[in-house]
Amino acid sequence: MHHECSGLTQIPFHPLALPLLFADNRFVGRAHVKDSHHPLGGIGGIVPSPRATPGPAGIIADANIDPLIFLKRLLDQYGDVVRYQSRFGPCFVFVNPVHVQAILHDENYRRASLVKMMLGEGLLAVDGPFWRSQRRLMQRDFLPARIEPMVANMVRRTSMLAEKWNAAAQARQPINAMADMTRLTLQIVVEALFSSDLPDSKMTDLCAAVTQTIEDLGQISWTIFGTPMHFAPGASAKFAAGRKAIDQTCYEMISARRAMPQDRRPCDLLTLLIESGDGGMSDRQLRDEIVTMLVGGHETTALALSWAWKLLAENTQVEAQLHGELDQNLQDHAPPMNAIAKLPFSRAVFQESMRLYPPVWYMARVANEEAVIDGHPIPRGACIIVSAWFTHRHIDYWPDPERFNPHRFIDPDPLRHRYAYFPFGGGRHQCLGMHFANIEGAIILATLARQFRVVPLAGQEVRPMPGITLRQSPPMRAMVELRNSRPAISNPRSRP
Ligand code: HEM
Repeated sequence: MHHECSGLTQIPFHPLALPLLFADNRFVGRAHVKDSHHPLGGIGGIVPSPRATPGPAGIIADANIDPLIFLKRLLDQYGDVVRYQSRFGPCFVFVNPVHVQAILHDENYRRASLVKMMLGEGLLAVDGPFWRSQRRLMQRDFLPARIEPMVANMVRRTSMLAEKWNAAAQARQPINAMADMTRLTLQIVVEALFSSDLPDSKMTDLCAAVTQTIEDLGQISWTIFGTPMHFAPGASAKFAAGRKAIDQTCYEMISARRAMPQDRRPCDLLTLLIESGDGGMSDRQLRDEIVTMLVGGHETTALALSWAWKLLAENTQVEAQLHGELDQNLQDHAPPMNAIAKLPFSRAVFQESMRLYPPVWYMARVANEEAVIDGHPIPRGACIIVSAWFTHRHIDYWPDPERFNPHRFIDPDPLRHRYAYFPFGGGRHQCLGMHFANIEGAIILATLARQFRVVPLAGQEVRPMPGITLRQSPPMRAMVELRNSRPAISNPRSRP
């Protein structure tokens, strides 16, 4: 899908296309109305400004290029703030941390509705008062004290994968790092949030369905960057099948839990949601929240780890330093929760991997009302894009930005702007699972890197594939090598 661009084509505005992406009509309002008096021939709500935001004239469409290339070209040409006109309306790109902070902390900028197709009214898709009450309810389950008991499961699951990698190493069979990380993090999140150990075949179906759905949403998301619509979810059998498989698993989990006597229910997120409020939530709302956790809570961590393996393999000095830290602190056991504090370099590797390859590489918002950001007039209904990919590589904030250097997080520059780095977003929507993901990432990385080196097969060119997450394309294939024949960590459950 990495098409080279032959230039950005401009086509006349097509208002019918607008509702799909921006169309949370509660928020968009007047922005649909064409304003023939406007000098740009554009869209209602634009206030002629003393400071026109730089950007290409006309409507960008059929760009048909990778969004990372599309945005890089605009930012290289026009600077840190760019305005372009998509088929769906005006879009603004902001990459300066000062602007990112202003946007993420301002209630005027609300979520775009793309993911609603899959997540319904789940926490990751909604905004406003309903989001607020759901967030309040659910964040109790993400407090550090609630996460600690989940660590044993993280270790156990990772140790099971270590056994598989051990077998692959002995048999000289390559692994697919992204697939292994994705399955592992899905197992961990299912177990952590729903105390449910799905049978292998169900887990495989669920993993495939969620992965396919994220890919489909990613394809739709490209249209915001001028790519033609190649994919209609309503007409896609694959999308429908994926949704059905996910729904089936979720509804089964819900009804099994409802059927349990209250005093026998495990103390986890699903019980918390079922028993919340007066009459509890409807099955539909429960489904939306569960799917949100499944979608938001595993591929992101898996991708951060997949990129970490690639970066470590390419930077052997960093890899050696990581191994040194693990050998010194872990000996031959997996890291318990309190050991993570003794692994600052491992945590820094995880953080630096997300700097270079932020799993959520951009976020889109819709302006609820007309506003001004640092002198740039924002029309009501405009789309605002902030991108961790570009802010994390901003030369004013990150010296030698392309270099993989975890030391940036060991001795952080005290003057670095808080929003020079925001893999977990910020403001009111800051990632609910941030603490969970940081612990999980450190545990998986430490457990596996203590025992194995991941050595990519020669002749691959693994590039970032920007959808709604930042996957590898093609997924990196690698040999795993046992380090110094260290004993593999055994699966705690299989111990005598
Ligand atoms: C490395 C892993 C992860 C990354 C990079 C990540 C990134 C993000 C980002 C950037 C947002 C903000 C989205 C926005 O503002 O529109 C977000 C929100 C969210 N994340 Fe994560 N996430 C990760 C792991 C997790 C995990 C493990 C869970 C749950 C188990 C989770 C659940 C959520 C939820 C529910 C939200 C919505 C929060 C709200 O709007 O109130 N995430 N995540």
